[in-house]
Amino acid sequence: MATAEVEIVEGIEEEYVDDALRVVYDAFAKKLRIGFRNPDDLIRLFRDSVDTTSCFSAIVDGQFLGILAFQTAGQEFFRLSLVNTFTRFSPLRAVLALFNLALHASDAAPNEFVVDFLAVDGSSRGMGVGTALMHRAEEKARSLRKHTMSLGVIAENEGAIRLYERLGYKTTRTWHGFYVRLATGSEEVRRMEKPLASGRPDAASSKAG
Ligand SMILES: CC(C)(COP(=O)(O)OP(=O)(O)OC[C@H]1O[C@@H](n2cnc3c(N)ncnc32)[C@H](O)[C@@H]1OP(=O)(O)O)[C@@H](O)C(=O)NCCC(=O)NCCS
Repeated sequence: MATAEVEIVEGIEEEYVDDALRVVYDAFAKKLRIGFRNPDDLIRLFRDSVDTTSCFSAIVDGQFLGILAFQTAGQEFFRLSLVNTFTRFSPLRAVLALFNLALHASDAAPNEFVVDFLAVDGSSRGMGVGTALMHRAEEKARSLRKHTMSLGVIAENEGAIRLYERLGYKTTRTWHGFYVRLATGSEEVRRMEKPLASGRPDAASSKAG
């Protein structure tokens, strides 16, 4: 499959939300294991409460291949509802799910565009889908006049780090310790950033995608 065949769409159509949550679960099962036993748990909690405008979708021939969810001040993909959590899960599982989500919560600064997560279907990796999604996110960040793009990644995820470095991201901070291990199953989490030159369009990024 060539990159040109991939359609990157801003937002996500309702009909693809379940597929997207499955792709996300498969990509981050290790991180989500506390509180979410399988993709259906994630779907049950978030099916009707994601912000369908806070992401980009990658579609080929009507098939959902990948998602990049982003966060800006006041806007994020997963909209948690306590009522949903406690009515759809047993009390213990609801607490575990909330605990998991709290471990991964982050807030975007006013000038920041956070790539919350990037996930491509397992059978479609290495074909340019992730890169195309990242380019579209950068275009969006520039159009919003954000100054910085940022993301978090575990140190073992060398492939993803290589991808981000190729796109101009640099590690600006690392975290270690008990909570990092608990939240991610990893010894180290990196924050990577890419400065955007005062939101001006970038020739390289607007060509791609
Ligand atoms: C990371 C990820 C989004 C990349 O998407 P992709 O569509 O495969 O990326 P592209 O085809 O545009 O770019 C390929 C690059 O992605 C990286 N990559 C990471 N994991 C990969 C995988 N399993 N297969 C292929 N490439 C992978 C490599 O750097 C690769 O470049 P290389 O060929 O020089 O090694 C995808 O592998 C994925 O969903 N992984 C699981 C979830 C994840 O780790 N997300 C990032 C967390 S911050």
